[in-house]
Amino acid sequence: MPRYAQVVGWGKCLPQRVLTNRELEVSIDTTDAWIQSRTGIKERRIASDSETASSLAVPAARMALETAHVSPESVDLVIVATATPDRIFPSCAATVQNALGARKAGAFDINAACTGFMYALVTACQFVTSGTFKNVLVIGSEVYSRILDWKDRSTCVLFGDGAGAVLVQASDDAPGMLGFVLGSDGSGADMLYVPGPCGTPQSSPNGRYFLAMNGPEVFRFAITTTRKATQQAVAASGLTMSDIDLFVSHQANSRIIWAAAKSLGLPPERVFTNVEQYGNTSAASIPIALCEAVEQGKLHAGNHVALVGFGGGLSWGAAVLRWTVN
Ligand code: UT7
Repeated sequence: MPRYAQVVGWGKCLPQRVLTNRELEVSIDTTDAWIQSRTGIKERRIASDSETASSLAVPAARMALETAHVSPESVDLVIVATATPDRIFPSCAATVQNALGARKAGAFDINAACTGFMYALVTACQFVTSGTFKNVLVIGSEVYSRILDWKDRSTCVLFGDGAGAVLVQASDDAPGMLGFVLGSDGSGADMLYVPGPCGTPQSSPNGRYFLAMNGPEVFRFAITTTRKATQQAVAASGLTMSDIDLFVSHQANSRIIWAAAKSLGLPPERVFTNVEQYGNTSAASIPIALCEAVEQGKLHAGNHVALVGFGGGLSWGAAVLRWTVN
C-alpha cells in the first residue's frame, strides 16, 4: 500500500519586539517611503537578547503539534531549517527535540539559507513516503538580526526574526505532497552570503560576521527562479496553474512576489503575503506565511497550495501540497 505525506499541523512564533521603518529612519539614512516602495516591508520583529533560533522554534513546534493533535512522544524526527543556529553544534534540532520532550525523535538541522524550509519539508516527506517515519516536525527558525550590519542600509532594513513549523504525517488515504523541485547554483555564492567562524581568517577581520548581498542581482534571480520553480513543481504534480488555489512564496520583497505571481497568471486573491509585517525571515518565512494563511481561513481541504523559496546558494525549491485538513 502506498504511503503518503500530509501536512496536518502548523505553528509560528514571533518575537514581541516590533521594529518599524520609522525607527530605522533615526539610526540610518533611510525612509519609511523608500523601504515600503522598494520592498513592501512596514515593520519586522527582532529577537531579545535571550531569544535564539531554538527558543523561537520550540513554541512554533508546540503549536504545530497541538493543531495536529500529536504528542511530542509520537514525533519520529525533528528537522530545523536555519542559517542562524544557536551554536555550530549541537544542532538547533537537538535542542528543540529535548525541550519538546520528543524522546523518540532523531534530530538534525538543514542549512539552505532562505530555501531551508523547502529542503526540510521535502526531506521530511521522503522519510514519510518511504515508510520510515510517521510524524516529522519541520521547523524554519531564524535570528537574522544577529548577522546584520545595522549600519548597512542596503541589507538591515530587509530582514526580521521568527519561526514557523509544520507537522508532516503519514497517511494511507491520499497524498498531501504532490510534487516538488529543489535546485542549487553554487556559482552564485558571492551574491548572498555570510562569512563564518570556520572560514578563512580574512573573512572577518573584526570578529563579526555580517550578511552581504548583491541586491539587484538577487532580485533578478528571485523573480525568474520563483516563476520557473513554481511552474516545474506544478507540472511535477500533474496540475496546471489554474489548479493552484493559494501561492505562498518566500517573503523577501513584495515586488518579487507580485512580479512572479503576475508572470504565473495568478490573481491577487490567490497570493498570500505577510512580508509587510515581518520582513524577510529567511527559512522561517514560508511556514509562518502558511500558518497565517490557515489562520485567516484561506486554505480548505481539497485546495492546492504552491510553496516556493529561493535564496543563498544560490538555491531554490518549490512544492505543491494538496491541503487535507478542514
Ligand atoms: O531571501 C533572499 C534575499 N534577498 C532578496 O530577495 C533581496 C533581493 N533584492 C531586493 O529586494 C532589492 O534589490 C533591494 C530591496 C535590496 C534594493 O532595491 P533596488 O530597487 O534593487 O535598489 P538598489 O539596490 O538598486 O538601490 C537603489 C538606490 C541606491 O542609491 P543610488 O545608488 O541610486 O543613489 C541605494 O544606495 O537606493 C539606495 N538605497 C537606499 N535608500 C534608502 C539602498 N538601500 C536603501 C535604504 N534606504 N534602505
